[in-house]
Parts: sequence; C-alpha cells; structure tokens
Amino acid sequence: MEKWWQNTIVYQVYLRSFFDTNNDGIGDLQGVIAKLDYLQSLGIETVWISPHYDSPMDDNGYDIRNFLKVSEDYGTIEDFRDLLDAAHARDMKIIIDLVLNHTSDEHPWFVAARDPSHPEHEKYRDYYIWHPPKYDALGQRKLPTQWVSWFGGPVWEYNPPTDAYYLHIFSKKMPDLNWRNKAMREDLKRIIRWWVDLGVDGFRIDASNHLEKNWSFPDARPGYEHFSSLPKHHTYLAELGREIFKPNDLMIMGEAGGASRAEALQYAGFDSDEFNMLIQFEHCWVDCDPTNHVTPGKWAKGTIDLPRLKHSFAHWIDVFKGKGWNTIYWANHDQPRVVSHYGCDTHDYHTRSAKMLAYVLYFLPGTPIVYYGEEIGMTNVDYTKLSDFRDVEVFTEYENFIANGASHDVAMQALRDRSRDNARSPMQWNRMLHAGFSEHPPWMPVNNNYEVINVRRQEQDGDSILMTYRHLLTLRKEERLAFSTPEFFDLDHPQFFSYRTTGAQHTFLILANFKASPMTCRLPDELQTYTLYLHNLEHDLDEKSEQFEPYEARVYRRLKSPR
Ligand code: NOJ
Repeated sequence: MEKWWQNTIVYQVYLRSFFDTNNDGIGDLQGVIAKLDYLQSLGIETVWISPHYDSPMDDNGYDIRNFLKVSEDYGTIEDFRDLLDAAHARDMKIIIDLVLNHTSDEHPWFVAARDPSHPEHEKYRDYYIWHPPKYDALGQRKLPTQWVSWFGGPVWEYNPPTDAYYLHIFSKKMPDLNWRNKAMREDLKRIIRWWVDLGVDGFRIDASNHLEKNWSFPDARPGYEHFSSLPKHHTYLAELGREIFKPNDLMIMGEAGGASRAEALQYAGFDSDEFNMLIQFEHCWVDCDPTNHVTPGKWAKGTIDLPRLKHSFAHWIDVFKGKGWNTIYWANHDQPRVVSHYGCDTHDYHTRSAKMLAYVLYFLPGTPIVYYGEEIGMTNVDYTKLSDFRDVEVFTEYENFIANGASHDVAMQALRDRSRDNARSPMQWNRMLHAGFSEHPPWMPVNNNYEVINVRRQEQDGDSILMTYRHLLTLRKEERLAFSTPEFFDLDHPQFFSYRTTGAQHTFLILANFKASPMTCRLPDELQTYTLYLHNLEHDLDEKSEQFEPYEARVYRRLKSPR
C-alpha cells in the first residue's frame, strides 16, 4: 500500500540559518512557522529541521545536552508545539533530527560518567565507551589506537579523573554512546517516545551506521572500519523500528554512508524494520583529486566524474526498485552548495546551471529532499578570513592542511570550496540588511551576493530558479514521478546527462549538458514524437538542434502511450 512519505516533498531547514524572528542573529522555530506559507508555495509538504535540542553548539546542535529541552537559541517547547500545530493545520509534516550515536560532553549522563565522585557515576559510566591508556617503552601515556575522528584528529580524549580515554568519532565534545548497554538504549527509547507523543511525524536518523564499534579496539589508521557499518548496528536500529518507528507509522530517513546493495535493503527495504528510506552520499563527492595530499580526501577539489555520478544515481534507483525506497537530493548541511560544486556560481551561468541541476534531479524517483536556499541557487561562501568560518571541523582540518605543507591561501581555498560552512550561511530572503534573515548581525556572515541572489527578487522574476523549482515540484507531484522508473541513455558519456521517464500522464526526455563547454550530441531518434516542454536558456532555441550550450538542459514530453 502506498505510504504518504513516498509521494511527499521534503525541505531541509538548517534552523540556525533559516529565519530569525527574535533578532538575536540566530534562526529559530518561530522563523520556520513564519515561512511555512513560503514553503507551501514551493510545493513542500514535509519539513526536516536540523537538531533543535538544548546544546552547547560545538557542532551546531548535533551535540545534545538535553534531549527533552529545546535550545534557547531556537525557542521553547511551546514554540515547538506551535510549529507542529501550524504545520499540521496546513497538512504539512515535521521531521526532526535524531542523534543517537553520541551526546554532548555536557549531557548529565556524561558529566556523571566522567567524574568518579559523582553520585551517579556507576550508573552512567558504561553509557559511554572507555579505554585505559597504553604506555610506550619510556612509560609515556599513549592513545589506545590511532583511529581518526570524522572531524580530523584522534578519536580518543583522556579523562584524568578516571585515568581512561573516552571514544568520540566526531568532536571531543561529542562522546560516543555505548549501544551495548541496555539501560542506555531504554533511556534513549523513552526520549524518542516523548517526541512521538508530542506529535512529530518522523525522524532523520543521524550517523546511524556508527552505533556499533569493534570492542577489541585493534590498532589502525584511520580505522573507520572499526566504528562504521559493523553489522550489529542493524540490530539496534531494528529494535527501535519494531518498538517505536513502525507501530507509530513514522517517516524514518536514515543517514548511512557506504552501504552495499544487500545492506541498503536491510536499512530501507519495504520489509525492513529499520528505516523507510536511506540517505546515502555516494553522489556527493564525485570530484575529488586523489593525487592531492595537501588538502586530501573530500577537500581535494578535482574534475567532476559525470559517468560516476550517473552510475551512482542509476545504481541506487536499481537497488530499491520494487524492493524499498530511495531519497534523492543534491546536497545537505555537510556538503558544499550544489550550484558551486557541480554547477557554476559565477554570473554567466549561475541561473542556467542551477536550473540544469534541478531538471536532472527532480524527474528521478524516490522522496526528494530540497536543501534550504537550493531553490534560489545559494552559492558557497565568499569568506576571506578563517574567523568568518564557524564549523568545528574547519579548524582542525585547517591545522592539518598547514601541517601537510599548504599555504594559508591554499588552505582557505579548500575551505571555501569544500567546507560544510558553505551550506550553512544565512538564508537570503531579500536585499535588505543581513539579507532579511535578521535585523541583528547573524551568527555567521551572510554571503555578499545576497543583493542579487535572494527570494524576493526571484519571486518577481518569472524565469528565476525559484520559479523553476515551484514548477518542477508541482509537476513532480502531479505526474507522480516519485514512482517512475527512468531509463538512462549512455551512462558513460562524460558530459551528457540524459534519460527518459514516464509519469502519470506524460513521458519525458531530460537532456542536459552537465559541463561548462558547449557540446554536440546525437539526439534520440524518438525525439520527433516529443515537443519541447522546458529549457533553461535565456533565449529561444531550435528544439531539434544537436548543439548544446554550456549547461544547457531541455525537457521534452509527449503524452504517455496507452498501455
Ligand atoms: C552527521 C551530520 O549530518 C553532521 O552534520 C554531524 O556533524 C555528524 N553526523 C555528527 O552528528
């Protein structure tokens, strides 16, 4: 039976940067309420908000201090109830982030766990993961292993009062929870049920594939295989699913990288107890330069491997076809802005490439997740000072780049190209002070291009990126494209992104030049039976032309043939 979450359209709100109603420079829950009409006009039906819980904000709320309290930065529990009511009154749904892998080091469980004199120390010590120090030949204390955290640097932090290291696979202010501890799991379940009882419609499960660790702690560097995707994490997720997610008919989007075909179905197959749909990242980094050892890994900007990108989309669609459910999205709060990353953010092709990216993605099947600001083509940040950045990851990695031999300029460019802060700058609502986000200087600088790239301006322009999004998202619903099955043409072509797909009423051909250089291509023979429906050029075009301008994209359609 069809489920509501299969044919919904999700919008991800990065709460801190969306809209500030109390003028403290930080986005808030009332800000989301204030913009529900806007979201509805875009065709959005489900809103996923990034963590709204009480937190010292080391990782902008993914470090939770109190799971049952709303961060004062964002409002109160009454504001949260207002948000649920306002959304539900519009028949919209609210999905919240659920962070299960770790807490803040300021969470009362950890405060007790790290302090042997705390009255509840015994109870909470094993809610976390501890390891005694090792010693070298000279008796110097050593880390238990060389495992490297996802934010760079060791995963171990020494805690003198217990003479032990605790594990943190993200920042040192985010100690990992011990999922082998049943009492801890039961406490988390109580917390989850509390939010369900309040009326949330689902969860996005953070870092879900890290819950289990290799407790023999073998030495390795970086050692990811010892704290990622260990089979037992499925047992924990299925336990939550059977006891809470399924009985309450919640929408569960699980974040997990690196899943095999079989594992993907274990997460999000139709008969899985774990999630309803998977958020994986395979398509997010198809342009890394493996020869760059100065700003390595995701930080090494290279050329886009388009065949790899298309094969990735085709692969995930195939994995879930008839067996489970997929999400489609370009980017979230952990990647650069897609128009800067895979399109072009300079004036000449900004609008054109943003529309091209929208055409190629939003005719694909699955549940789409639009990231705030994507619909107006918000770009990477233009920061010139290290102090403009905010992300905890940036500062460790900057030091790593310098240690690898990068100059300050090279390191800064890597941050501007690849850091997560690119996707977190304040939403550009209009050309007023602070882009209309707040009347107070925002918690992180607004991008200087806000006078040109903003919602207000694009609402007044019938040819804007925003109008394209409105059109495509409405069309997507009408044509029930969530359930379609695309047939890709020439997955190995290095420049042409093209496929055929059939919706409820029409068959569409999506033909796009994904790159900045012009291209000549052979159009499919069947084209004569189609008419041009959409294109992203600023001028008229010959619809039979085999020449494609930089980033040119066209959508042709014809009435669906009767079966
Ligand atoms: C994944 C989230 O998307 C990311 O933003 C966060 O830093 C880590 N999990 C840790 O919670």
